[in-house]
Amino acid sequence: MHAFIQLMVVAAQTNSRDLAALLSLKNSWQNVPTSWVGTDPCGGWAGIYKCNGSRVINILLTNMNLMGQLSGDIGSLSELQTLDLSSNKQMTGRLPQEIGSLKKLVTLTLTGCSFFGTIPDSLGSLEQLVYLSLNSNKFTGNIPNSFGNLSNLYYLDLTDNQLEGSIPVSDETVPGLDMLLQTKHFHFGKNNLSGTIPPKLFSSNMSLIHVFFDNNNLTGSIPSTLGLVQTLEAVRFDRNSLSGPLPKNLNDLTNVTDLYLSNNNVTGPIPNLTGMNSLSYVDVSNNSFDVSDVPAWISSLQTLTILMMEHTQLQGPIPFDLFRLPHIQTVLLSHNKLNGTLNISTTYAKRIDLQNNTITDFQTTGGYNATILLEGNPFCKKAENIAGSYCSSSSSNSTYSIPPPTICSHVSCSVDQVPNPNCNCVYPYKATLIFRAISNLDLGNTSYYVALEKSLMQTFDSYELPVDSVSLGNPFMDSFGYFGLSLEVFPSGGDRFNQTEMLSLGFVLTNLTYNPPKLFGPFYFIATTYAESNKPLHNGIIIGATIGGSVLLLLSVLAGLYAFHQKKKADRAFQNNPFAHWNANMKNGGFPQLQAARCFSFEELKKSTNNFSEANVVGSGGHGKVFRGTLSTGQLIAIKRARADSLQGGHEFKTEIELLSRVHHKNLVSLVGFCFEQREQILVYEYIQNGSLMDSLSGKSEFRLDWMMRLKVALGTARGLAYLHEHANPPIIHRDIKSSNILLDVSLNAKVADFGLSKPKVDSERAYVTTQVKGTPGYLDPEYYMTQQLTKKSDVYSFGVVMLELITARRPIERGKYIVRVIKNAIDEAKDLYNLHEILDPAIDLGTKLKGLEKFVKLSMRCVEESRAKRPTMSEVVKEIENIMQLAGMTPNIAKSTSTSTSYEEASKGGCHRGYIDDAFDSPSVLQMIKLK
Ligand SMILES: *[C@@H]1O[C@H](CO)[C@@H](O)[C@H](O)[C@H]1NC(C)=O
Ligand SMILES: *[C@@H]1O[C@H](CO)[C@@H](O)[C@H](O)[C@H]1NC(C)=O
Ligand SMILES: *[C@@H]1O[C@H](CO)[C@@H](O)[C@H](O)[C@H]1NC(C)=O
Ligand SMILES: *[C@@H]1O[C@H](CO)[C@@H](O)[C@H](O)[C@H]1NC(C)=O
Repeated sequence: MHAFIQLMVVAAQTNSRDLAALLSLKNSWQNVPTSWVGTDPCGGWAGIYKCNGSRVINILLTNMNLMGQLSGDIGSLSELQTLDLSSNKQMTGRLPQEIGSLKKLVTLTLTGCSFFGTIPDSLGSLEQLVYLSLNSNKFTGNIPNSFGNLSNLYYLDLTDNQLEGSIPVSDETVPGLDMLLQTKHFHFGKNNLSGTIPPKLFSSNMSLIHVFFDNNNLTGSIPSTLGLVQTLEAVRFDRNSLSGPLPKNLNDLTNVTDLYLSNNNVTGPIPNLTGMNSLSYVDVSNNSFDVSDVPAWISSLQTLTILMMEHTQLQGPIPFDLFRLPHIQTVLLSHNKLNGTLNISTTYAKRIDLQNNTITDFQTTGGYNATILLEGNPFCKKAENIAGSYCSSSSSNSTYSIPPPTICSHVSCSVDQVPNPNCNCVYPYKATLIFRAISNLDLGNTSYYVALEKSLMQTFDSYELPVDSVSLGNPFMDSFGYFGLSLEVFPSGGDRFNQTEMLSLGFVLTNLTYNPPKLFGPFYFIATTYAESNKPLHNGIIIGATIGGSVLLLLSVLAGLYAFHQKKKADRAFQNNPFAHWNANMKNGGFPQLQAARCFSFEELKKSTNNFSEANVVGSGGHGKVFRGTLSTGQLIAIKRARADSLQGGHEFKTEIELLSRVHHKNLVSLVGFCFEQREQILVYEYIQNGSLMDSLSGKSEFRLDWMMRLKVALGTARGLAYLHEHANPPIIHRDIKSSNILLDVSLNAKVADFGLSKPKVDSERAYVTTQVKGTPGYLDPEYYMTQQLTKKSDVYSFGVVMLELITARRPIERGKYIVRVIKNAIDEAKDLYNLHEILDPAIDLGTKLKGLEKFVKLSMRCVEESRAKRPTMSEVVKEIENIMQLAGMTPNIAKSTSTSTSYEEASKGGCHRGYIDDAFDSPSVLQMIKLK
């Protein structure tokens, strides 16, 4: 295990599938470690350990304050053996079924996160799994029967969730927990499990040492099969609704040290448990046992330290031998009918609670050091005893003798800092250790805690972690019967741990949980989020990456932010409306910084869309739906309404409107206005009549595009994009170019839609932005997908795919075939039409006038080059298509008039584009010709 930590940095080029999966996870999480940059996670991303060759083997991210969900991408990391996301309280969502693809997983630790929903069945197919800890989350539903297939499972911890239903056991058709013969730990406490405990659950073939079903709603009796599991060391069925008598063969469990059966309705006699001669902790309080004397055999349990038999119908004399047992610490026998005289000469016990019995007298020679409580007995009714310390009920019930904390009265530390034992202010790593059974813990002995601290210290030292000292404190017993201790680990050689050291601390503690030394007993830990100042950026976006040796600044303002964050920001923005100062100018007919965009009221837009009715939906995307609306003037508009979780900050929204209202181009759908109120962010665009290019190619529209028309659509689209890339200021990367985002107006001019609303803008000095990968499958630039670096060339790739759609009328991915590959495989430049006859759309009039088609195909192939460096820029594409159009017989002057950038500007200034391109296509006669109806 030592080598483990030293293997953190292994020079390796990470496998591309693993890289893609990690990049995708990274994008869906906030607060990832600062070292998560670049494209080689195996070469230094914190928490990604021990890459085998190029494959990721271990992910250990304990207590990183990660925020987000675990997406199905995790399933791609097929060599993964360890996944530890414990103590990330902001990790939420459902566990994806895909986790079942991690066939090599050995350790899955999600302790102390906020995952919810049912536990996926697919976990049961992870046959290599040894450690499974899903405790302290919010899982609901049943324990999957499929867990019965985990034949190598050693540790199963589902404690502290909201699991329901009965305990699953196998039958002819389904597996069940009874099949887990290798498992040592059944930790199912603190759930809502119900039904009876199936006798089938236990058998003599099992190797269980811990069986914890405490704090559930189980009914019925404890089956006698439990007595067959002779390996048992700790058994908890406390805090259920169990009834019936206890099985006699519990007595066979000779290795059990902890027996928790309290708070049930167990009936019948208290069985003779003389054989359980390892018992240390016995709690059978609050049950309905038959009335009986304190069983004599109890005093023969030489290892007993804690005995709790409150409210158990005991009567008769007090068992004095009990107080003389060599290890006894605590005896709680309150609320019974013990009578006679209490006679204590010597005892090792620290606390003896006999309140509410019928004890009449107390005799002592004072040879003890115990707190003795007798309140509620006839003894305390006697006038001479009332004031005695035995008769006060206010006595503290603490039996923990924790070493006092270091007092550093001369130092005052800042928030989050704590003085270490040398009184230096540092940021300790804090965790709570929670023990589910306490027989190994000598809670009343100060030197025990000191020994525990020493043992922890030795463990950290053995991993060569920079730990100065550790401190345990704040012992507590909660109402679930769990004992807790706080742990502080102080750094040496600095005032804080760095991220790698923190991850290592988490790893060491997890390892201790699974393999506790004798001193510890069964425990788990939940770490406290480490001091926030350790995080470089509060919004979790990492800016800056090294590529090819040069550091490039990345701009990622609008993209990649989490919905949660968005919402918070938007909330703030709405309290502080950045448009407020514009309102004054509204009456004067406009906004100071807006040329054309109009501010719509939400009411007006609501009315125009018939209350945003489904019938008016004309499109939808990641950011929200697009509605068709009609203004009172009769003008048609397209309304893009951001979903509640896609809202951006008010200032970003304002900046975006300012930007979009400056974007005017004949081949871009133009912004008419916006709405910003009532938690709404809406962009209003001109409505484009003839639907999308996709509608047209698929035959959904009423008109058909011939070769010339298709060239014209390609040119228009290319010009629109070239404008966004090269003339918008700052440049805009569209990011979602596809045939359904290319609209056709009445003259069948292409108009690029769906730019704006959280699309990243690129500063011209910066080459790319790093963003959450978004886009549409089939159009997505593979290099963008791999590196997450979005460049203008990503749009060029998508445009290349659209070009292929234009000639084939096929969807980019159709029947599992990817158009780019299909064409690449089919091309034979030696043949007519490059040998593509079979693939081309028959509707383009094959064979007649396909002049320039080969060049068009060649250009599209350059656009979809894998390497973005090999792809042309959009303005190069524009020039090429213009040349192809000339070749195909279009009048040269048309192409020429649009070949310079200034012509776009001029065209846009007037807002009137008549005569700008190919008048012939604008004439009604041509339109009539191509309309089928
Ligand atoms: C009981 O504990 C002892 C000592 O730890 C061990 O040697 C023995 O194998 C255990 N018995 C069973 C049945 O596991
Ligand atoms: C309890 O059982 C033991 C043998 O296991 C026996 O020696 C003892 O007498 C029994 N005690 C009582 C009170 O029945
Ligand atoms: C104690 O209680 C038992 C059972 O109720 C009774 O038989 C016995 O006489 C009592 N002893 C004294 C000293 O009151
Ligand atoms: C307290 O604990 C220490 C170390 O675990 C042990 O040596 C010592 O005997 C204990 N003292 C008592 C009174 O149990």
